[in-house]
Amino acid sequence: MRFLMCRPDYYNIEYEINPWMDVSKATKHQDAVNQWNILFKTLLSCGASIDLITPVKGYPDMVFTANAGLFYQNKMILPHFKFKERQGELPYYEKWFDQAGFQCWNKVDDHTPFFEGAGDALFAGEKLFVGFGFRSDQRFYEKAGYLDANKLIYCELIDPYYYHIDTCFCPLNDKLAIWYPSAFSPDSQTRMQKEIELIAVSENEAKRFACNAVVIDKHVVLPDDCPLISSLLEQRGFQVHACKMDEFIKAGGACKCLTLRLDYDE
Ligand code: ARG
Repeated sequence: MRFLMCRPDYYNIEYEINPWMDVSKATKHQDAVNQWNILFKTLLSCGASIDLITPVKGYPDMVFTANAGLFYQNKMILPHFKFKERQGELPYYEKWFDQAGFQCWNKVDDHTPFFEGAGDALFAGEKLFVGFGFRSDQRFYEKAGYLDANKLIYCELIDPYYYHIDTCFCPLNDKLAIWYPSAFSPDSQTRMQKEIELIAVSENEAKRFACNAVVIDKHVVLPDDCPLISSLLEQRGFQVHACKMDEFIKAGGACKCLTLRLDYDE
């Protein structure tokens, strides 16, 4: 499995665009670097191959490459960031995709409904669970034209702390996922339960970003201090790797947000 990551050279809390962020709680730079490096090495040890995009000064959230796009049917779908603070990241991602040989499906302009990439769109087998309500706009999925409408599962997010679907839901394979149910509207909870078997994460571990996990076959890389979900995953035959992510949780992200899948193998 191939992923895109971005080193946290310029990562910090410079603005507040989600409830986790507090500009008075700056990141400890060396701790963030250490946590990122451990995540990077852990993913490599699980068999990942990792490409890197050069970080850009002035874009502290560029470290969260999950929002750089969505790899879909061998092409990239570009994001339209909701907040101007992140919109300037797009040209750098576009350039990187282009130079790496990826074709893109879409052009993004002011009229494009908001869409925050793989942060709001997660595959479970062929099904694509798409989040909306805070960052991505439901109309993006409806209007895109190239997304297979029969395979989209619409998931409405209702808790501002869980503003991207990857903060509260994580497919482990095509049949099983973990989630934090109360992050979703009652209708969406019912819809999701019909599509996939779901293991609930406790409120405490949801806050520790337990659902923000990277799955590589039977390996699950998730934030540390999530003992309950870790033992449930182990009972299901997964090998859990815990990584300290506190410096990134300050910005509302963790393991999964720091990666973008660049291939797809269903
Ligand atoms: N501070 C970033 C933002 O609010 C965090 C992004 C986390 N990414 C994710 N895929 N959940 O945009």
